[in-house]
Amino acid sequence: MAQWKAGDPLEIKTERFTLRSLRPEDANEDLLSWLTDDDLMYYLGGPWGSKSVEALGKSIAKLYDNKSDFMLGVYDGDRLVGCYWIEGYLRLRSAVTHHVLGDRSYWGKGVPMECRTALLDWLFGVGFERVEGRPYATCIRAIRGYMKQGWRLEGIARRASRDRSGKRHDNMLFALLPEEWAAIRREQKKAAQAKAAAGKSEEAKKRAASGSK
Ligand SMILES: CC(C)(COP(=O)(O)OP(=O)(O)OC[C@H]1O[C@@H](n2cnc3c(N)ncnc32)[C@H](O)[C@@H]1OP(=O)(O)O)[C@@H](O)C(=O)NCCC(=O)NCCS
Repeated sequence: MAQWKAGDPLEIKTERFTLRSLRPEDANEDLLSWLTDDDLMYYLGGPWGSKSVEALGKSIAKLYDNKSDFMLGVYDGDRLVGCYWIEGYLRLRSAVTHHVLGDRSYWGKGVPMECRTALLDWLFGVGFERVEGRPYATCIRAIRGYMKQGWRLEGIARRASRDRSGKRHDNMLFALLPEEWAAIRREQKKAAQAKAAAGKSEEAKKRAASGSK
């Protein structure tokens, strides 16, 4: 089990990205423009009200304690490209995650799959016993992602959210339990091993064919 003490900032590495707890000084113009963008934040309950980078930094410090509430930046090198949020319910050992890829040039490149895989490894590794995703029922991109990653659809929470305009939305209720995630990871490893073995045998066939010419 990974070591983590409530309050410790997180830093999680994936193959291409680093996810780390945002500090007030990490707030920048890009982050401000994403979080205050009506379209980008539509499925996350609406835009933030921060009026400046400084105000945004203060909100991050106030809202995210790295104990039960986390806001993680997704970094490609030094470049911030998106964010993950974790609402943790420590007593229940359960958590809800949300995400936004602010830099649209990163859409369609498997970023959520890669980052959330690392996040789930971390959450279950430190002892969370349930992780939920609750996208609006109209948020096709996010829903596709949960389905592709093997989350269980447990139901639809009808009119569970209310956006800033007062409109109510249904939420899809996706969840994963540790044993389900462990099974998904085992299958992924098997598939990767089978792919590597198939690649090797293809190579061997090519070598044999070129040697026999
Ligand atoms: C949600 C978000 C992070 C997804 O990022 P992304 O890089 O586009 O995600 P992916 O490329 O991994 O997956 C998108 C999937 O939706 C599918 N998709 C997109 N538009 C679709 C449509 N209209 N109908 C059906 N499928 C659609 C894509 O084909 C892809 O599925 P595939 O990988 O099986 O082909 C990003 O779109 C975002 O930041 N949106 C704004 C914030 C947001 O909505 N957050 C979610 C709140 S819960």
